[in-house]
Amino acid sequence: MWVKVGILGAGTVGSGVFESLTSGHFRRISDSYSVGVSKVLIKNSEKARSRDMQPYLTTSFNEVLEESDIVIELMGGINPAMEYMLEAIRKGKGVITANKAVIASHGKELFEQAVQSGTNIRFGAAAGGGLQLVDRLFSSADNIRKVQMIINATSNYVLTGMKNLQFQEVIAEAQRLGYAEQDYHSDISGIDSAYKLAIVATLAFNQVVDPRKLFESGRVRGIEDVIREDFEAARQFGFDIKLLAIAEKNQETYDIRVEPCFVPVGNKQYGTHQLAEVHGVFNAAIIDGQLSGIQKFEGRGAGKEPTTSAVLYDLKKVLDNMAKGKIDEIHSWSNPPASISDMDTSVVTGCIRTVSSDRPLTVHYITGILGHEGLNLGNVYQKRGIHSGDFTPDWFFFDPISLDAVHRALSKLEASDFVQGKPVFYRIEPELK
Ligand SMILES: NC(=O)c1ccc[n+]([C@@H]2O[C@H](COP(=O)([O-])OP(=O)(O)OC[C@H]3O[C@@H](n4cnc5c(N)ncnc54)[C@H](OP(=O)(O)O)[C@@H]3O)[C@@H](O)[C@H]2O)c1
Repeated sequence: MWVKVGILGAGTVGSGVFESLTSGHFRRISDSYSVGVSKVLIKNSEKARSRDMQPYLTTSFNEVLEESDIVIELMGGINPAMEYMLEAIRKGKGVITANKAVIASHGKELFEQAVQSGTNIRFGAAAGGGLQLVDRLFSSADNIRKVQMIINATSNYVLTGMKNLQFQEVIAEAQRLGYAEQDYHSDISGIDSAYKLAIVATLAFNQVVDPRKLFESGRVRGIEDVIREDFEAARQFGFDIKLLAIAEKNQETYDIRVEPCFVPVGNKQYGTHQLAEVHGVFNAAIIDGQLSGIQKFEGRGAGKEPTTSAVLYDLKKVLDNMAKGKIDEIHSWSNPPASISDMDTSVVTGCIRTVSSDRPLTVHYITGILGHEGLNLGNVYQKRGIHSGDFTPDWFFFDPISLDAVHRALSKLEASDFVQGKPVFYRIEPELK
């Protein structure tokens, strides 16, 4: 029996899914059905497309809807992607999406409508597709205590490359290789990681994590402020730098954040973090469950093939469910919101990096501010310029203290004439035990 699949979008992922489904190899991804593409929705009919795709193209969503049993949304953005998915679900079509922004922000509407319409919606490619994270968490019966992830492959590629090159050089290389889009802001700023983290945390804890709350409360930092010299300082003391997305249960509240962290590598005090050796375009997640303990999953993150693979996996699952007359109801987004812990009272350890003019008393002045806010310093590392008076970065490692005190110190340093630009804080995330 044939099932007709409509694809919304013919970009990186849409074209990957189209090519796979029309190549023959993937036509029988289910024991019960043969799969054929009905239509492919695009916005700009002037754009050059492959000859194979031409007969399928349309700019009419209604045409796709009428001719499809399953709709795969690969357009991105909130609307009209959200409206189209809702409409397809209302019409009883199975829906598959890779759209993290829609799932994280509007999951409730979509999943409730899917239950009402008795149809399947799957979104494995929206968060950690290559790791099958969504399925693992959806089907887990364990009490998940903590999830730590490297979930944005573009940022991880850039951080890996910055050990040898400047940011602009690495990002240009990433664009050339197809690992970064022309507009890479959402990857580099942590926004993409935050949407994925909101999805993962909602599934892990069965309480809704609204990404807007993470953005508004300053819980999302990207890698824009990381400089190449930070890696040298990190290495001196047994660390690497990774953009981590973290969700952790503390009694009744949840600590949820995205930030660049110092992760230990063979460090006497902090061990070796389980994500420290995840490099390049790889993503990885550590899930810590009460019964299962710590489990690690790793796989390729960015790009056409791994995302296409995750979408096809979801398609297979929808077909399997259709054959059994079954739907997987998703209720996590109908639960109450997760109570996010007060970040300022959390105790942190790490380092602050400043950039200042290399002249007498500068370091004395900076350590004075840090000491005044109660930061007890351990190691201090200075990267001196070639000429006297050059701007030099300094790293000040401190003992555990409240994040509030760190923020006060950062504000004072930023306001001072000695420090150039924004001082940067890196939290140390020790090996998980
Ligand atoms: N790229 C990845 O590695 C990756 C990984 C995981 C998840 N995702 C997710 O997958 C989705 C697709 O990403 P992508 O990288 O493939 O995007 P993309 O290359 O920008 O392609 C988007 C496609 O959607 C079409 N489109 C956009 N708005 C439309 C509208 N209003 N009406 C009709 N068509 C419209 C575009 O049409 P035109 O061609 O006519 O402009 C284009 O074909 C996004 O949700 C993204 O977050 C992507």
